[in-house]
Amino acid sequence: MTDEATYRPATPDDLPLVTETLYLALSWDPEDPIPPFEVVVSHPEIAKYHDGWMRPGDAGVVAEIDGAFAGMAYFRLFTDDDQGQGFYDADTPELAVGVRHGFRGSGIGTRLMQELGRQARNRGVPRISLSVSKGNPAANLYARLGYRWVSDEDDELMVLDLT
Ligand SMILES: CC(C)(COP(=O)(O)OP(=O)(O)OC[C@H]1O[C@@H](n2cnc3c(N)ncnc32)[C@H](O)[C@@H]1OP(=O)(O)O)[C@@H](O)C(=O)NCCC(=O)NCCS
Repeated sequence: MTDEATYRPATPDDLPLVTETLYLALSWDPEDPIPPFEVVVSHPEIAKYHDGWMRPGDAGVVAEIDGAFAGMAYFRLFTDDDQGQGFYDADTPELAVGVRHGFRGSGIGTRLMQELGRQARNRGVPRISLSVSKGNPAANLYARLGYRWVSDEDDELMVLDLT
């Protein structure tokens, strides 16, 4: 299928796209609906993924089709004291990705993650981590892009080594 999207680096004005991306990522399972958008994104465990966007260490890529938001991949650094779900270490930003319904399966997610990987390499980021639920087919995409499971015990944490 043709990928007609254009891709641009995220900016400080993209907070609404960051929160939409988070919601897309969290609501990945149609069999397991989640609470409404406002409830989810204001929850402290979720707000930590967008509060103060863009702070140092934040980076993202936005996909647009005819000027409309189609999807985004972004990452954020966490600390030992304030960890995300997919925390690896304080040098490793955690990635989130979401593509709007109707645009999935046409290569946009792949391209978003590749572009974000390029940004990370340019910044000297050593690796990127992410958390993916068991059963989410997105794990196939991550594995295809070189992400590896960190351990057999914690099979929701994947890492892409960049060095
Ligand atoms: C995961 C996601 C970002 C991938 O974006 P995309 O544009 O659909 O991805 P691509 O077309 O580049 O690649 C398709 C791959 O994504 C996987 N995928 C996951 N959910 C999918 C969906 N709903 N539709 C199509 N592909 C999906 C497929 O397994 C496929 O991998 P494969 O080619 O190795 O089989 C997107 O499908 C999405 O937003 N899903 C719901 C939110 C989500 O799961 N986010 C990640 C949370 S960890």
